[in-house]
Amino acid sequence: MNKPANFSNIHKYYDLINTLTTLGFDKSWRSQAAKNLNPGSVLDLGSGTGASYEDLNSFDVTALDPDEQMLSLNKFDRKIVGKGEDLPFNENSFDNVLCCFVWRNISETEKAMNEIYRVIKPGGKFILLDMTRPKNSILKILHKIGTFILLHLIGLITINFKEYRFLYKSLDFYPQPEIHLSKNEYLSLDITRFGMFGFVYLAVFTK
Ligand SMILES: C[S@@+](CC[C@H](N)C(=O)[O-])C[C@H]1O[C@@H](n2cnc3c(N)ncnc32)[C@H](O)[C@@H]1O
Repeated sequence: MNKPANFSNIHKYYDLINTLTTLGFDKSWRSQAAKNLNPGSVLDLGSGTGASYEDLNSFDVTALDPDEQMLSLNKFDRKIVGKGEDLPFNENSFDNVLCCFVWRNISETEKAMNEIYRVIKPGGKFILLDMTRPKNSILKILHKIGTFILLHLIGLITINFKEYRFLYKSLDFYPQPEIHLSKNEYLSLDITRFGMFGFVYLAVFTK
């Protein structure tokens, strides 16, 4: 089981730092992810400060996050404190579950997978966006060196060394998504890679 990061310490700077670490691409990746949603309701799982707010303005959104401080900055109307591993909803409650840059924080992904599947309506979507390592072994080494320097530097500058060390280490928590996500109950799964070296993935599951 992975030890989750405590984002409370960095909640005020979270969006700025996210933009810096992804060179501003996080917004376009989130928009790209949202384009795959079915119309209707969305559970924004690990919504944090609500970074997907603008992409979700035509949807009926429920924002869920375990961190009350992150949620205090979140603009969605319906906000619920909770975890992906234990969702406080009936089965078949949502047309979609959206999960952006959260998966590496979830310590029990198998449990969360079952919970997410349970709350999605038949035909609904589970959209998962997160960072990983590039597939190519040379690019993987370069990526490891780059993220080591960048994330430790930001940790030192913002005096949140532990949180940024977690973000660095979490990139190696799971196998490549093509392997890690392949065992599932969904009807279909499409995985697309983005970013320099393909270190960001978008997984679109259909129930
Ligand atoms: C890196 S932030 C991502 C926030 C937002 N989704 C985004 O796109 O920027 C990760 C969020 O996941 C939340 N989180 C941590 N553990 C979680 C869990 N077990 N279930 C749901 N969310 C979790 C954290 O509190 C944090 O707000």
